[in-house]
Amino acid sequence: TNAEAQQTAPKTRAMPDAQTVTAVTHWTDRLFSFRVTRPATLRFRSGEFVMIGLMQEDPKTGREKPLLRAYSIASPSWDDELEFYSIKVPDGPLTSRLQHIAVGDEIILRPKPVGTLVHDALLPGKRLWLFATGTGIAPFASLLRDPQTFEDYDEVILTHTCREVGELAYGRDLIDHIRSDEMLAELMGEGFHEKLRYYPTTTREESAKMGRITDLMRSGEAFADLGVEAPRSETDRAMICGNLAFNLELKAMLEEYGLEEGANSDPKHYVVEKAFLD
Ligand code: A2P
Repeated sequence: TNAEAQQTAPKTRAMPDAQTVTAVTHWTDRLFSFRVTRPATLRFRSGEFVMIGLMQEDPKTGREKPLLRAYSIASPSWDDELEFYSIKVPDGPLTSRLQHIAVGDEIILRPKPVGTLVHDALLPGKRLWLFATGTGIAPFASLLRDPQTFEDYDEVILTHTCREVGELAYGRDLIDHIRSDEMLAELMGEGFHEKLRYYPTTTREESAKMGRITDLMRSGEAFADLGVEAPRSETDRAMICGNLAFNLELKAMLEEYGLEEGANSDPKHYVVEKAFLD
């Protein structure tokens, strides 16, 4: 009957490109990660980002429309779910709401991956540097679980600079998992454990290594700690993902070392991408 049809009809228009939340982890009061179902047709390269978001009412028309932001995919391309790592901005249009998602909720995910932090944008090299601040570690969480990363390089160094120790937890957990998971080890291939180096630093709270990675490189301390030379265009490749000031400063430093910026269509020595901010 009509009454029945009305009862079962959805109250709001179906969400376009909806995916279902399968897990949520809150790392600090400012940081959380979540996993969602993966569209069957979605193919992406580790390090790429997609647009994700929620429906929001347009105050002028009263109609619901998508509110979307760029998010790096933090999961590897072989994973059957997608993982994202996000900051919670109290008055951020999207993250103020996104931080409350729970398992079973739906989000919008536009299945069109793009980005510059991909292996295709780099020439072959010996050592890969992954430089991150804050949530900028997300694309590297994908790349560090991609077997190609360790097939292509003899050494992979992840640096992660955060204000406080708690903000390192997601990255530390990722590294612990990569180092201990047997299934992953099988997938990643022989000897990959020895290739992975992790260099976390904090700037506003006491930790084992304090300071901005840029300052620690300028003083030579980071290179001494790691037992490596400063980057050279002959051997070193780099990916940068963090806040804008960090990206610009590190980019200038790499240029001074003689490295040049690459792109998908013109692979070179390093690539840069800005971490998402609401
Ligand atoms: P600092 O505490 O000295 O500003 P944010 O949370 O503001 O995005 O910063 C994340 C981390 O990036 C912080 O540890 C911050 O250090 C660091 N940072 C900010 N700007 C730069 C920069 N220009 N070079 C290196 N590190 C930076």
